[in-house]
Amino acid sequence: MTRDNFSEVIGECAEIIKKGGTVAIPTETVYGLAANALDPIAVNRIFHAKGRPADNPLIVHVASIEQLEQLVSEVPPKALSLIEAFWPGPLTLILKRTGIVPDITTGGLDTVAVRMPADIVAQELISLSGKHLAAPSANISGRPSPTTASHVLHDLEGKIDAVIDAGNTRIGVESTVIDMSREKPAILRPGYISAAKIEEIIGEVDINYNEHDTGALGVVRSPGMKYTHYSPAATVLLLEGPHDLVSNKVREMYADFTCRGARVGLLVTSNDLFSLTNDVVYLGRKDEPEEVARNLFLGLRSLDERGVNIIIADGSFTHDGVGAAVMNRLRKASEMIIKL
Ligand code: TXA
Ligand code: MG
Repeated sequence: MTRDNFSEVIGECAEIIKKGGTVAIPTETVYGLAANALDPIAVNRIFHAKGRPADNPLIVHVASIEQLEQLVSEVPPKALSLIEAFWPGPLTLILKRTGIVPDITTGGLDTVAVRMPADIVAQELISLSGKHLAAPSANISGRPSPTTASHVLHDLEGKIDAVIDAGNTRIGVESTVIDMSREKPAILRPGYISAAKIEEIIGEVDINYNEHDTGALGVVRSPGMKYTHYSPAATVLLLEGPHDLVSNKVREMYADFTCRGARVGLLVTSNDLFSLTNDVVYLGRKDEPEEVARNLFLGLRSLDERGVNIIIADGSFTHDGVGAAVMNRLRKASEMIIKL
């Protein structure tokens, strides 16, 4: 299903959703695998298709404030300020849930994650179906998130009812997740909306997304944080530090691993590393984290498809703004992080 006949396609997909089926949809961040969030059988199809652990809750996507109000028992003033500032857009709020949200959707938690996507196709599907759409990223659990319809099909063909192809997603990394259900808001997953932008609106927030299994208190706050993530089949080695040191180290490690018979792929922010090999993907300019974000998952998947054993990833891009989210995804995808 392609861009030319969108309204027809969205109509058909709305029918699939109403019947309890699953549809992979574009959003501005990554493709999501959508089903009626209030129908436990439909939601179970999402978990089954992805192979997702049952205690990892889903984000519910809405197209109106009325739909949000049906899901949550209250919208605290700071949450409302964030909604006014950033919705529709790549910000997910965790709020206390009402009884209409099934346990399977929230992994049994007393909170629910909600976001209003900016993508018009996603919005129209929600409106036309009249349903709240649970939609995790449309990848096999643990794999890089999909930024094209072909990534979705690569992982889920035969396991889902439809995919709406709207080309490449605009942002390339998932939404920022912020817990607004407690006294002091906490960012649980960095995304396109940076902590600095959020603090401009509601003041200081906790940051709870260190790349280890547990938060600062040794407690897993976002269930998804304890699983491996974004991992291609190849082993990813991440180099962090000043750009020239990283570039030199990429050359050195490339030579070393190649000598020992490995097929090495490179994910880089320097054009001059292109002469080393054909198994190389340009992430974007090092001081343009939005470019790097758009190419990250694409790059990991493309190197995997070429059959490399090892991916050396250049982490020397700007970590401001969406750069923090890119770094977080790369660290989670990596077997080893080397700081220079
Ligand atoms: O950009 C996005 O957010 C994409 C698109 C499709 O909207 N969706 C997405 O969903 O990334 P998913 O399921 O891959 O990631 C949702 C994250 C997980 O880490 C999950 O554990 C966390 O949100 N989460 C969901 N509900 C939660 C809750 N009630 N409390 C804490 N964390 C929650
Ligand atoms: Mg995901």
